[in-house]
Order: sequence, then C-alpha cells, then structure tokens
Amino acid sequence: MATLVTGGAGYIGSHTVVALHEVGRDVVIVDNLSNSSPKAVAALRRLTTDDLVFVEADLLDAESLRRVFADHPIDEVIHFAAFKAVGESVEQPIRYYGNNLGSTIGLVEAMVDAGVSRLVFSSSCTVYGQPDEVPVTEASPTGATNPYGWTKYMSEQILADVAAAHPLDVVLLRYFNPVGAHPSGTIGEDPNGIPNNLVPFVMQVAVGRHDKVRVFGDDYPTPDGTGIRDYIHVMDLAEAHVAALDALAGGLRGAVPINVGTGVGSSVLEVIAAAGAAVGTAIPHEVVDRRPGDIAKTWAATDKAAEILGWRPSRDLDEMLRDHWRWQSRNPDGFA
Ligand code: NAD
Ligand code: WQD
Repeated sequence: MATLVTGGAGYIGSHTVVALHEVGRDVVIVDNLSNSSPKAVAALRRLTTDDLVFVEADLLDAESLRRVFADHPIDEVIHFAAFKAVGESVEQPIRYYGNNLGSTIGLVEAMVDAGVSRLVFSSSCTVYGQPDEVPVTEASPTGATNPYGWTKYMSEQILADVAAAHPLDVVLLRYFNPVGAHPSGTIGEDPNGIPNNLVPFVMQVAVGRHDKVRVFGDDYPTPDGTGIRDYIHVMDLAEAHVAALDALAGGLRGAVPINVGTGVGSSVLEVIAAAGAAVGTAIPHEVVDRRPGDIAKTWAATDKAAEILGWRPSRDLDEMLRDHWRWQSRNPDGFA
C-alpha cells in the first residue's frame, strides 16, 4: 500500500516524504510544481529511493486525480498542496480560494470515490486569528484575518462536514511556525521572491542576499518588545504526520484538530541571536515599525498532540537554525 502526499515536492511535504520513507512507507507524490521544482524531486530521490513515485499534476484536474487513485494502491493521504503567502492572498483572493478550496474538495471527492478514508490535512495556527490567551488550545476561538487564513478555516469546516457524512477520518494538523531543514542540507525551504517569514529572511541576510533584517516593532507587550512565535523544526513536524497516520490506522475517528508546536515561544530578537550563533557571525538588524496585522505573541498548547498522537518534538531552536543554515549556506539560491 502507499501514502499519497499532495504538495510533496514543497517544503514541509518533502521533509515528510523522507520521514515516511524512513518508516518504510511507499509514497506517491502529486505536485504541479507551482511552488517547487524538479530539482527538489531529484534531491528527494537521492535522500530516499530512485523509485520514489512523482506525478506532476494539478489537484484541480479531477481526471488526473482519479487516475492517481486508479493507478496506485493508495490507502492514506496527506494533503499539503496549497498556496500559502498571506500578502499574496489579499491581492489574489480568487486564486487562493480557487486553489486551496478547489484542491481540498477535489481530493476528498476522489478519496470518497476510491474508498480511501484516512487523511491528514495541513492546517495552521492562523485559524486562531488574534488569540486572546496563550498558549492556544484546540478549543480556543477560531477565525481568520486574511484570505489565506480563511482557506484553512473553511477547509477544516469542509473536511469536518465530509467526515460526518462519509467514511472519512481526518487529522487537522495546525502547524505553528515551521523552520529548519533536513540535516543533510540537501532539501529545505526555497521561498519565491523576497521571503515574508522571519527565518528565511534572516538566512538570506546571512548569505548576503539582503543587507539587514527589519525587526517589525519592539513595542509589543513581550519581555524584549518583539513578537513571540512557536518555531517548530520541520523534521519534528514531518514526524507528527507519520504519528497522525498511525493514529488514523489505529482507529482515530472523526475530524480532529491538533496543534503542532513546541509549546515554547521565542522572540524575534532571540531568533536573530540564535541564528547569529548558528551562522558564526552576528546578523545585522534594525527595528522598524510594526507589520500591519501581526499579533504580539502565540504559542501552542501541546498536550493533545502528546495524548492522541504520542508525538513530542525533540529539536530546539538552536538545532532548527543550525539545520536551516546548513541548507541555506550550501544552497544560497535554493534549488535555482
Ligand atoms: P510549499 O509551497 O513549499 O508546498 C506546497 C506544494 O503544493 C508546492 O510544492 C506546490 O507546487 C504544490 N501545489 C500547490 N497547489 C497545487 C495544486 N493545485 N496541485 C498540485 N500541487 C499544488 O508550502 P509548505 O510550506 O510546504 O506548506 C505546505 C502546507 O502547509 C500548505 O498547505 C500550507 O498552507 C501549510 N502550512 C504552512 C506553514 C508554513 O509556514 N510553511 C504554516 C502552516 C501551514
Ligand atoms: C514571525 C515574527 C514578525 C519577518 C506566518 C503566517 C501564518 C503561518 C505562519 C501559514 C513576527 C517578525 C518577520 C521580518 C520580522 N503560515 N518578522 N521581520 O507572522 O507568525 O505567521 O507564518 O499558515 O499564516 O502569517 O510568521 O515568520 O512572518 O513572522 O520582525 O522580516 O517575525 O513580525 O513577529 P507569522 P513570520
């Protein structure tokens, strides 16, 4: 049997394919390479097996999707494929709703038709909007502040409704802030254009692609005044997907939201300092105005992941930044 991984050529998907390979699962990747490249697939084959199945197809193409289920013995699915840039989603809402909701609906339709019932979905801490309290638990109020966030919120609702009506069980993994890379340094995050996210930007400063990091505000109600997030190593996150598939195979039922974070918050200045230690030289930075829409602080309550999945992260911020730096320093231009 095989695990279908949509978006498996992307950042988190590729690391999860490695984790699946390590536990002996056969994998079928479907990706349209809209935010990845054949070089990522080649690197992934070197890390796993030359036989790794890669199907270049768009999830919005129902016939291609039907053929994937007809041609391969798929018994479980992880759905990563989506567009993920918050700012772009504000400028291009139709494209974001079309891709992220269309792919999710097409996928569950194909799963129901093929009789495949186990799904792990890439959700996000963005469904907590502006949290009133930290840490956020899975029972905290949900909502969104931009079209990308709404696509995650709506996808969760769609999947819960389908799970209530059809033989479908789904773990909705709400990721906090994934960073880091596989320790080989051969796969990693390769942002399109100028990165919006902190760690990819810091690493591009470290390789000389930008002069300095702009710290978006130091007047937040946090100990050093900068924003606090829950950064999670992408390999820990990858392993959470394997644990979620195991829980589904073990009989977990319904549509179950689960946070994937470390439960530890780090400030922007702490990340910049840890990155400087990983790189071996201080990272130039300056404080500028707050970024509109940013929240002061968030981190995850992690009990549910431990209880239901038996999963706990094992890598700290220093390891995240060391591994991210290994990837970035060996591939200053990503897969280009
Ligand atoms: P990514 O862009 O690196 O990977 C997504 C992959 O999906 C890409 O390879 C892209 O080519 C593919 N894709 C997109 N639309 C497709 C379609 N219609 N058909 C086929 N393939 C398609 O992104 P990532 O960082 O690996 O994120 C993976 C998932 O995790 C996304 O759903 C994202 O929203 C979610 N997520 C990411 C973060 C983060 O900070 N990276 C945080 C929370 C949630
Ligand atoms: C982290 C901190 C910034 C860049 C985003 C998405 C969210 C989710 C996770 C997908 C904040 C500060 C950043 C910079 C800075 N993704 N910062 N200078 O905002 O938590 O969330 O990724 O689901 O939907 O919005 O992550 O990495 O952008 O920012 O000072 O150049 O770093 O203000 O405090 P964020 P981020």
